Amino acid sequence: MARFTILPLPYALILVAAACSVLGYVPYDAAPRSTGGAGHHASARTYIVLVEPPPAHTHEDDEAAHRRWHESFLLSSGAGAGSRRRVRHSYTSVLSGFAARLTDDELAAVSRRPGFVRAFPERRVQLMTTRSPGFLGLTPDGGVWNATGYGEGTIIGFLDTGIDEKHPSFHDDGMPPPPPRWKGACQPPVRCNNKLIGAASFVGDNTTTDDVGHGTHTTGTAAGRFVEGVSAFGLGGGGGTAAGMAPGAHLAVYKVCDAQGCFESDLLAGMDAAVKDGVDVLSVSLGGISTPLDKDPIAIGAFAAVTKGVLVVCAGGNSGPLPSTLSNEAPWVLTVAAGSVDRSFRASVRLGDGEMFEGESLVQDKDFSSKVYPLYYSNGLNYCDYFDANITGMVVVCDTETPVPPMSSIEAVSNAGGAGVVFINEPDFGYTIVVEKYDNLPMSQVTAVDGTKIMGYAMKGTSTSNHTATIVFNSTVVGVKPSPIVAAFSSRGPSVASPGVLKPDIMAPGLNILAAWPSEVPVGAPQSSSFNVVSGTSMATPHITGVAALVKKVHPDWSTAAIKSAIMTTSSAVDNAGNQIMDEEHRKASFYSVGAGHVVPAKAVDPGLVYDLGVHDYAGYICRLLGEAALKIIAINTNLTCAELEPVTGAQLNYPAILVPLRAEAFAVNRTVTNVGPARSNYTAKIEAPKGLTVKVEPAELEFTKVNERKTFTVTVSAAAGASSEQELAEGTLSWLSHDLDHVVRSPIVADSRLTLS
Ligand SMILES: *[C@@H]1O[C@H](CO)[C@@H](O)[C@H](O)[C@H]1NC(C)=O
Ligand SMILES: *[C@@H]1O[C@H](CO)[C@@H](O)[C@H](O)[C@H]1NC(C)=O
Ligand SMILES: *[C@@H]1O[C@H](CO)[C@@H](O)[C@H](O)[C@H]1NC(C)=O
Ligand SMILES: *[C@@H]1O[C@H](CO)[C@@H](O)[C@H](O)[C@H]1NC(C)=O
Ligand SMILES: *[C@@H]1O[C@H](CO)[C@@H](O)[C@H](O)[C@H]1NC(C)=O
Ligand SMILES: *[C@@H]1O[C@H](CO)[C@@H](O)[C@H](O)[C@H]1NC(C)=O
Ligand SMILES: *[C@@H]1O[C@H](CO)[C@@H](O)[C@H](O)[C@H]1NC(C)=O
Ligand SMILES: *[C@@H]1O[C@H](CO)[C@@H](O)[C@H](O)[C@H]1NC(C)=O
Repeated sequence: MARFTILPLPYALILVAAACSVLGYVPYDAAPRSTGGAGHHASARTYIVLVEPPPAHTHEDDEAAHRRWHESFLLSSGAGAGSRRRVRHSYTSVLSGFAARLTDDELAAVSRRPGFVRAFPERRVQLMTTRSPGFLGLTPDGGVWNATGYGEGTIIGFLDTGIDEKHPSFHDDGMPPPPPRWKGACQPPVRCNNKLIGAASFVGDNTTTDDVGHGTHTTGTAAGRFVEGVSAFGLGGGGGTAAGMAPGAHLAVYKVCDAQGCFESDLLAGMDAAVKDGVDVLSVSLGGISTPLDKDPIAIGAFAAVTKGVLVVCAGGNSGPLPSTLSNEAPWVLTVAAGSVDRSFRASVRLGDGEMFEGESLVQDKDFSSKVYPLYYSNGLNYCDYFDANITGMVVVCDTETPVPPMSSIEAVSNAGGAGVVFINEPDFGYTIVVEKYDNLPMSQVTAVDGTKIMGYAMKGTSTSNHTATIVFNSTVVGVKPSPIVAAFSSRGPSVASPGVLKPDIMAPGLNILAAWPSEVPVGAPQSSSFNVVSGTSMATPHITGVAALVKKVHPDWSTAAIKSAIMTTSSAVDNAGNQIMDEEHRKASFYSVGAGHVVPAKAVDPGLVYDLGVHDYAGYICRLLGEAALKIIAINTNLTCAELEPVTGAQLNYPAILVPLRAEAFAVNRTVTNVGPARSNYTAKIEAPKGLTVKVEPAELEFTKVNERKTFTVTVSAAAGASSEQELAEGTLSWLSHDLDHVVRSPIVADSRLTLS
């Protein structure tokens, strides 16, 4: 029996529309929200206002006192007695400040008040829209799931579009109550159970209902419970069992987005509540375009979360395959890239000459395949917006310029009487095929390379020649090789906001992911389904969140950096065909696209060694990169000052990945590993480097005699003598191999000639 996990890409339809923009180039500070609460004014907009913590005698838990302090900033701004209503959110946990709608004059007045630190206009951020547990080696009744109790007792928080709390993935049969430290609650009318232990809304309609689908999908992916006989539209394993990565974990849902979008002030309010409530891991499948760390509310909120021991896992963005397109790049968050899984919803195109091309589709019409159809392709009108010929009963070939076929083309073909349609992928999407459920028009989506061949056939000979085709539907095929490959849309490094730090960190399944879906949110022309197939780094993120919960369960005392290191250094560099993981074009994938590698849950719980980092290290990085003023903003709830910190460059940060300049002179970085394996263990360094790169490690042997013992080593990297000076990038790896070979602790090494070190 096929066993697969249901991983949500919860927003099929909206994602179709949003995918185009999310995957494309969305102006991030687009339209201000249409409902802004009280105090509407033509030029007013919502600001996130950072202020000094309230006067010293205020108790940390006295929320009313915090709120009064925040409201006091509006008193002289012309808002008068209305100030109470005008504080949209009051933040007390992840930062000190509030959100309010202000005109320019009011903002000026607020900024003159003592205690004011900084205000920034909120931006709209994007949702980064599931076979995944089986593909990742998680199997019931044994292995790491058994060893970690399925993540039981851990709490995962989600900043998302809400949840369909009645979905079968979230029942609580046999689950223990939440741990006593839990402070969260469910907002009426939602009633908490032992699975769903928190639900709160921070958006306009003040309900936790998921009217988009995204939140239900991500939540199910990270922590859905076992549901038997699952399929979406009859696909996805023919009624397999669905489960999330950590089926035993408790869930807390913070609704910060609705169908209107997501706004940063609401997102911060959700983060603030989640940290106060006591989540262990926070899953953030949202993001805007790259922003300096001191102007990025997710980075600022995540810094505070990390100081409180909460790991924040974020989507890396859907703006690939162009370079430097990442979101959520701070070194203290875990940034997730999206890859494919070994499952295909096969819909192969068979031409009249017998040639077959392996396409994909969620519409599977087996009867269709018994006939052949005339094939229609118009070289001039190839986007299928309209037709100047009678296409009744034909299979039509259409080009696409978007990651998913446009609804308008599907409607045009359908309305013109077309029997079926073959969509040719956008050229830069290579082998990545993003499927979406539309209506029931038989279709196949093929790669650009196959598309070129199909077009060549269609245009061969004379216009009166008979060209025919059919689409052969073969439902769900598993074991597809090679997989994973990097999904074309997955955003790439190098990082703009965190130069010197290798990002993304890790890859997880994010292409065509099957997971829970609210039946009330239609999928395709009016159909309903309690599971759906969606794509995005949004879908990859909760896979990692779930794995982080499993690691946290086994190692409750580990720092967020240790958990992150464990997930990164145990990841896989190879695909299921035994080769280096490839990108969407089937070239060897750069670490700038795949991160440290593809997550391997079973190994992440037992990494042997970890690269640890603490708040002081991150603060030192901020000092070096952005200076004192930025530290004051990002670390507003701490007393840290740059004077008492050691400034540290990205290269020298004790990160589980190494990024250095590529140049002839040797460049040295130090790293410190902590022994979290057996007390007595010896490790030997193994270097893999391409011809153009020389890498040395000193010492190359590490001997440990205690648990938590730390050892420091130096890695020296230089361009090999005679290497081309035009080379931009050279990539290798450093692995520490334990002598019993139980542990391989692997770090990517990237040498980049474009990297300047300040
Ligand atoms: C699961 O773990 C328990 C202890 O936690 C162990 O006794 C049992 O043998 C394990 N089962 C399997 C199938 O590994
Ligand atoms: C939202 O609803 C909850 C529960 O009904 C209520 O306690 C809370 O005050 C409401 N929040 C807003 C901002 O209206
Ligand atoms: C289009 O072709 C179909 C079948 O070949 C035919 O039945 C129909 O009348 C044609 N429509 C027009 C508008 O010519
Ligand atoms: C077109 O197809 C018909 C029926 O299959 C066949 O009789 C005819 O010879 C074909 N014409 C050409 C030009 O191949
Ligand atoms: C359908 O898939 C099965 C494997 O799942 C394969 O053996 C068979 O050849 C496929 N059929 C076609 C027509 O592709
Ligand atoms: C800030 O410093 C004061 C005085 O040194 C200390 O009492 C307080 O605990 C510190 N606060 C934080 C958040 O570190
Ligand atoms: C790396 O460690 C060596 C040996 O402890 C030390 O001499 C050197 O200054 C360190 N380099 C950096 C950049 O910290
Ligand atoms: C580690 O290496 C040291 C020195 O070679 C040796 O004495 C010791 O027995 C080794 N420990 C293990 C666990 O192999």
